[in-house]
Amino acid sequence: MPTIFNFFLIFFTIVICFTAGNIEAQTGQLPKDEVEALREIAAQLGKKDWDFKLNPCDGNSNWSTPKRKDMPLYINTLECNCTFPDNLCHVENIFLRGQDLSGVLPASLAKLPYLKIIDLNRNYLSGTIPPEWASTKLELMAISNNRLSGHVPEYIGNMTSLVRLSLETNLFNGSLPAEVGNLVNLQMLNLKANNFTGEWPVELNNLTKLTELRISSNSFVGKLPNFESWKNLQMLEVEGSGFEGPLPPSFSVLTSLEELRISDLNGVASEFPSLTNMTRMSALVLRSCNIHGNIHDSVAEMVILRFLDLSFNKLEGGIANLEGVTKMEATYLTGNDFVGRIPDWLTSRDTRNVIDLSYNKFDESSEPSTCRDNLNLFRSFKVENFVESGKCFSASPCSEDKYSLHINCGGGNVTVGDTTYIADEDSAGAAKFVYWKGNWGTSSTGHFWDTDVSLNDHKAKNVSAIKGDESQLYMTAHLSPLSMTYFGRCLANGNYTLTLHFAEIVYRDNQSFQSLGRRIFDVYVQDKLKFKDFDIERLAGGVDKALKEKFNVTVKDKTLQVRFQYAGKGTTSIPSRGNYGPLVSAISLEANFKPPPPQETSSNQKKKILIVAGAVTSSLAIVLMIFFVAWKKRRNRKLMEQELRGLDLQTGIFTFRQIKAATSNFDAANKLGEGGFGSVYKGTLADGTIIAVKQLSSKSRQGNREFVNEIGMMSGLHHPNLVRLYGCCVDRNQLLLVYEYMENNNLSHLLFGKCYFSILDFDMLYLSRGSIGSRLSIFTG
Ligand SMILES: *[C@@H]1O[C@H](CO)[C@@H](O)[C@H](O)[C@H]1NC(C)=O
Ligand SMILES: *[C@@H]1O[C@H](CO)[C@@H](O)[C@H](O)[C@H]1NC(C)=O
Ligand SMILES: *[C@@H]1O[C@H](CO)[C@@H](O)[C@H](O)[C@H]1NC(C)=O
Ligand SMILES: *[C@@H]1O[C@H](CO)[C@@H](O)[C@H](O)[C@H]1NC(C)=O
Ligand SMILES: *[C@@H]1O[C@H](CO)[C@@H](O)[C@H](O)[C@H]1NC(C)=O
Ligand SMILES: *[C@@H]1O[C@H](CO)[C@@H](O)[C@H](O)[C@H]1NC(C)=O
Ligand SMILES: *[C@@H]1O[C@H](CO)[C@@H](O)[C@H](O)[C@H]1NC(C)=O
Ligand SMILES: *[C@@H]1O[C@H](CO)[C@@H](O)[C@H](O)[C@H]1NC(C)=O
Ligand SMILES: *[C@@H]1O[C@H](CO)[C@@H](O)[C@H](O)[C@H]1NC(C)=O
Ligand SMILES: *[C@@H]1O[C@H](CO)[C@@H](O)[C@H](O)[C@H]1NC(C)=O
Ligand SMILES: *[C@@H]1O[C@H](CO)[C@@H](O)[C@H](O)[C@H]1NC(C)=O
Ligand SMILES: *[C@@H]1O[C@H](CO)[C@@H](O)[C@H](O)[C@H]1NC(C)=O
Repeated sequence: MPTIFNFFLIFFTIVICFTAGNIEAQTGQLPKDEVEALREIAAQLGKKDWDFKLNPCDGNSNWSTPKRKDMPLYINTLECNCTFPDNLCHVENIFLRGQDLSGVLPASLAKLPYLKIIDLNRNYLSGTIPPEWASTKLELMAISNNRLSGHVPEYIGNMTSLVRLSLETNLFNGSLPAEVGNLVNLQMLNLKANNFTGEWPVELNNLTKLTELRISSNSFVGKLPNFESWKNLQMLEVEGSGFEGPLPPSFSVLTSLEELRISDLNGVASEFPSLTNMTRMSALVLRSCNIHGNIHDSVAEMVILRFLDLSFNKLEGGIANLEGVTKMEATYLTGNDFVGRIPDWLTSRDTRNVIDLSYNKFDESSEPSTCRDNLNLFRSFKVENFVESGKCFSASPCSEDKYSLHINCGGGNVTVGDTTYIADEDSAGAAKFVYWKGNWGTSSTGHFWDTDVSLNDHKAKNVSAIKGDESQLYMTAHLSPLSMTYFGRCLANGNYTLTLHFAEIVYRDNQSFQSLGRRIFDVYVQDKLKFKDFDIERLAGGVDKALKEKFNVTVKDKTLQVRFQYAGKGTTSIPSRGNYGPLVSAISLEANFKPPPPQETSSNQKKKILIVAGAVTSSLAIVLMIFFVAWKKRRNRKLMEQELRGLDLQTGIFTFRQIKAATSNFDAANKLGEGGFGSVYKGTLADGTIIAVKQLSSKSRQGNREFVNEIGMMSGLHHPNLVRLYGCCVDRNQLLLVYEYMENNNLSHLLFGKCYFSILDFDMLYLSRGSIGSRLSIFTG
């Protein structure tokens, strides 16, 4: 019996395959009612270019555009299954992505009984899910990046054949219906970037087959769901969802997790959760979750972990030993209370490692001796004047007070009226602090998820004209996926007016999915939260419109700090994946008080009166003063020379005459360039040694002392990759450093770059984000 049965089965299969091949060759026809359904669907969607004179199932007609090379998915394609008897076809899959269709979800879809996939991502569809869809046998329903609104209807629970469901980036609101819990075949559920409220229905615990769940950027209330039954979860994203912490203990059963991203939990502080046995974890984000205490030991077991973001918690103590986590590519520990030494295993990792330790309380003495563009140490230490003490910042003590600061974020120098906004073109990075000689700097932190890495992501340029005056300021903007700080120093203490300039230049406002973006972030001024859920487009009343926010700020300790932070809110996929995070166009700061007049310009009138009043006495006094000043200066110089000698330097002290001779009186022809502190000249000493002379200009006595300290510190350093410091020279207000001259460009790189201690073989390569964060299924976005 079984053999005969098998024989028939094989025979039957051969016959079917043969027939199927034949049918495909001549292309079958759709039943009339399916063609009619397609006409209705076209009308409901607003799709105008389907040509009903052609056979929709003919793969060569324009019902089926081939896959594009740059996009491994169908954009505008209808697929038929033509393996049915009588030369009959049925519509099986419909992909209509990114076409700005402005109709509604087509109710007539229900008239295509064999339909399995409907992909209407990136259109401009409105309305809600029609009741007719409840009876479909859809396996994949992707309707993300549209304008769908209202409640998700209960009858969605009838679509039990669904395996993948994406409602991301729409305007769905209200509570999630409990009926979603009936969709027991669901493997992927994406509810991101809607406006869901209410509690998480417990019925969703029935979705035991889920491997991927994204519910970020909503306004859910109550405790984080109990994840106990979702043992198959590989990807969980709960950022800015509205839920309250802490992570429930049941969490530890999710041992299949590969990517876990939870951020911005409300509620009480909690300990770091135990993540034991989660050895498949590749990306772990627990950001702004109000976690205190130490990093749990279980993190050290995650041997294939590549991305770790624990920023903006209250983690304390030393950093747990994660030396064994050797695959690490990026570590974000920003905004915690870590103390003690910065561990060597962390900073001695491959120089491509992105490490952000900004805003912590580490020991200053543990500052690594190398500076890198992807190791951010902005405010990492307990000290207050970290830019002066930090090795990498090369900031001299403030010599004179400033009363204003104007920055054109993400763009070049721009002059508006008689104010020049300074260029800010190169300050972006995943973990980067840049200090500019104009007494300001930027710290930028974070990883753009679900997209490929590009430094251009940190900058935006306008794509259409900006409305309003001062439009030059809004043509560029600086963007950040997590946190960016603008930092000004050497500002006279007092009250200032701070103006933050914004314009939404990425999203559009036409009838397109490109207008569906919502950018939401928080603004902190002098470490105080000034705006929560700041939304440029809403406040400006549209895109490409200037928005100025003015604040009264008090400058204390001569510093200003403005920080922008992404808090998991808003959309992340408009106009393409990875578009989110704070955006700022320009920053201006003006003192509310008059700067004291400089000494030289005290009015001539007064001088005259003085002179007339006491001609003889005053000239006597002046003569005396000149003598006194000259004597004091001499004494200062002597003192400093004594100090320099007292340092037991491994370097020499040169006379000004020697250096003048060596550089032919600082001949412009010998000038190698202009650095952060002053000019650098090439010179030849009497004994033939070729040197490089860095001429620092500092007038204050305090500056001299700083200089002395620096010489002391530098002369003690020995490293094959460091330029040798031969010596120095102090003469009147001239401070000169004499270095070994190196033929290649490295010296100038070193002297003009912001880190003159940096190692010469510094690897500038930025790490590629690889596949993590891009694992997003092709059908979800
Ligand atoms: C499809 O083909 C018809 C005729 O062949 C043409 O008129 C129509 O513009 C085409 N549509 C698209 C989207 O190419
Ligand atoms: C076409 O339909 C038949 C019958 O429903 C099914 O067995 C087959 O797998 C389908 N083919 C494709 C390519 O989906
Ligand atoms: C959903 O299924 C229930 C029970 O099978 C049925 O009563 C209801 O009419 C269905 N809803 C829709 C909109 O088809
Ligand atoms: C949901 O949105 C609809 C329109 O889109 C609105 O009428 C309704 O009030 C909203 N409901 C809630 C709870 O916000
Ligand atoms: C979300 O809902 C809240 C109140 O229910 C409303 O204030 C807000 O504007 C809504 N957001 C969007 C994007 O519709
Ligand atoms: C779904 O969950 C509810 C409540 O958690 C439970 O009562 C029900 O039996 C579950 N249904 C199925 C089909 O497992
Ligand atoms: C981790 O896995 C081991 C071995 O499979 C098991 O014995 C242990 O109980 C697990 N630990 C937790 C906390 O689940
Ligand atoms: C901006 O102006 C400053 C000072 O005038 C100049 O040093 C700098 O090179 C300019 N930057 C750019 C990008 O033009
Ligand atoms: C950017 O904005 C400026 C000023 O409004 C305008 O002149 C320019 O054309 C815009 N650029 C683009 C690409 O539209
Ligand atoms: C600065 O402003 C604060 C209030 O914002 C005020 O209390 C203080 O007196 C002002 N200081 C000066 C010097 O005007
Ligand atoms: C909307 O604007 C974008 C960008 O300028 C453009 O590519 C798109 O074609 C426009 N869409 C519509 C429907 O106007
Ligand atoms: C700043 O302070 C001045 C004087 O106290 C007040 O008139 C003004 O409204 C304040 N501006 C802002 C933006 O708060």
